[in-house]
Formats: sequence, C-alpha cells, structure tokens
Amino acid sequence: MAPCHGAGPDRALFAVGNPAPLRLAPSAKNSHLLVLAPLEGITTAVYRRVVAEMFGGLDGAIAPFIGTIRGLKRYAYHLRDILPEANGQEPLIPQILGADAEGVAEVSRACAGLGYTQVNWNIGCPIPNITRKKRGSGILPHPHLIKKVLSRACREGLPAFSVKLRLGLEEKDEWREVLQVLNSFDLDFVVLHPRTGRQMYRGTPDTAAYGAFLGECRHPLLYSGDIRSREDLRRLAEEYPETAGWLLGRGYLSRPVLAREIRSGETLEFCMKDIAAFLGVLSEEFLKNGADASWVLGKMKLYFGYLKHGADDTAAAMEFWGRLRGCTEWPLFEAILAGDL
Ligand SMILES: Cc1cc2nc3c(=O)[nH]c(=O)nc-3n(C[C@H](O)[C@H](O)[C@H](O)COP(=O)(O)O)c2cc1C
Repeated sequence: MAPCHGAGPDRALFAVGNPAPLRLAPSAKNSHLLVLAPLEGITTAVYRRVVAEMFGGLDGAIAPFIGTIRGLKRYAYHLRDILPEANGQEPLIPQILGADAEGVAEVSRACAGLGYTQVNWNIGCPIPNITRKKRGSGILPHPHLIKKVLSRACREGLPAFSVKLRLGLEEKDEWREVLQVLNSFDLDFVVLHPRTGRQMYRGTPDTAAYGAFLGECRHPLLYSGDIRSREDLRRLAEEYPETAGWLLGRGYLSRPVLAREIRSGETLEFCMKDIAAFLGVLSEEFLKNGADASWVLGKMKLYFGYLKHGADDTAAAMEFWGRLRGCTEWPLFEAILAGDL
C-alpha cells in the first residue's frame, strides 16, 4: 500500500487566485475527469481547499447550489462560498438552483462578475420543499419550463451553461423529453445522477437508464452516483467508456484518497491517523475563517460520520466515533484528536 501524502499540519499556505475553468479534454467524450460533487453544507470552500491541499487527485469541483434570489439583497451571503479569495486554484463551477429564468440569468451574471466562465444548473435536487416549487428535480416533468430557462441563460455574454439532473421526479423515463430540450441548446456538459427525485438516495443508481441517456445525449456526459471505490469506477468506465467524467460525492467524503486511488490504480493507506490529521487541519481552517468552536465541533461529527466508513482500520474508527459522538467541549475534541483520550 502506498502512503497517504501530505497529511500533516505544516503544509504550504493555501494559494488564492482567480477562478479557473474546468476544461474538458478536446474530444470531451471519454476525457475521464474526476470532479468533486456538490454537497450542500458539506463540500464548501474550506473543505474543498483542505482536500485539494491534503489529498489531491481531483480535476475540480462543482460548488453546492446558490438559490436564485429575488431582490438581490442577500447576494453577498449566498455568493460567499464561491468568492475567489475563499477558494484555492482548483477549477470550480458555481451551481444555481431555481426555476425562474430571470433569477437564473441574474445569478449567472453575478458569477460572471466574480470571474467565472462556467455555471451549472441544478435540476436534480430531490428535497420536497424545493421540488414543490418546480425547482430542482421538480422541474423535470415540465420540459417547457426548462426550455424557458435555457433560452434565457444560454446567451452570448453569460457564462457557459451545464446542467445536473436526475432521471425524473416521479418516473424514470421523464428524462426522454427533457433530453430533447437539452440537446437543442449549446451546453458545456450534462451530469446525470440516475435516480428519480422521489427515490432521494434510496435504492441503487439505474445504470442501464444512464446508458440509454448516454446514447442519446449530444453533450459530453458526466456520471454521478454511488462511486465508493476504484473498482466501482472501473466497472462503470468499462461499461460506459463514452462518459466524459465522474462526480465523486459520498464515496470521496468517506475516503478522500479515492481520487488518487482511481488515478494510480493502487489502494492507498487511509487510517485513523490520517483522518485525525485531516480533521485537525479542517477544524483549524474553519476556526481561522471565523466559525464558532461549537459549530465546528458539530461539523467535525458530520464529516466523521462519512469518514468512519472509509477508514482501513474500522475498529479504531469505531472507537474514535464512540469518543467523538458525545464530545461537547473543544479542549476535549483536541485531546481526542491528539489520541490523549
Ligand atoms: C447531503 C447532500 C447534499 C447534496 N447537495 C447537492 C447540491 O448542492 N447540488 C447538487 O447538484 N447535488 C447535491 N447532492 C447530490 C450529489 O451531488 C450527488 O449527485 C449524489 O450524492 C450522488 O452521488 P454520490 O453517491 O457520489 O454521493 C447532494 C447530496 C447529498 C447527500
């Protein structure tokens, strides 16, 4: 097993730069990009910077969604996660959630104002409060509304547009009409998570439906859903070699060496000591960013809830979880991380 690199406190300072685009290879189909999936409240700027620095292996990330905002008053708050000064030099694509054409165009313009040349539109979110308003996957049964938004957003002078979707809201063949609309616009790429909105995260991704979508999609297509190991990706890549890239979500959260494992074809070491070092750097960065210690402690439990599934030494991870779960004091958290408890 090759060791996990860079897991230590004295790493280089994070570089800050202008937003870089995520470039697909010249023949985009089959370019095999590895992209960090957007997970709202989880793959935020601090997390993205820390994993890029400590684990590497990703070509870039799609940021969690920014909702379209009426009145523009809350822009500063909603855009803060994608501010260039909060992000490193890894390519990053902001994501927009909304069903109103003007709102989507407005957020696109705000992203362009920050230097972004690409934006992604989320029409896959399954949360009932959102789908009820025909946002996220709630718009999938209404292809004419999708057309309306794209007609407004795919315009000269606005960032290049890509779309992330599910197979449908209720039915897993709703994509057929949606894809006819998507195929009639000039899109950067499409990402498909082959579940329906109603399914939320239950069941397994319908890879056969993914294959059917791939056959009819005229845009480069990226796959998202349940890639937990390099073996999972190898199987999918063998079956769907025309795929332009892969989004790594919960599998990456559990095992942030995953992207490098996929690239190297080797199993890397990922033990509790690597996880403790990672949580140490992550919590330090959140604190430096001005977050409150008890909030950071809650976040560390959230991240460890994923990481405990990816550790090589499962017994040690479960023991650590036993101590972390009930921890409410910051000094206690530091002692747990240092292995003093
Ligand atoms: C907690 C959580 C938050 C998510 N937030 C977003 C989001 O902001 N935008 C988006 O397009 N997808 C979001 N997703 C979906 C993921 O990007 C991804 O498509 C899905 O989790 C399947 O991939 P995975 O099995 O690799 O995690 C979210 C998923 C989860 C579990």
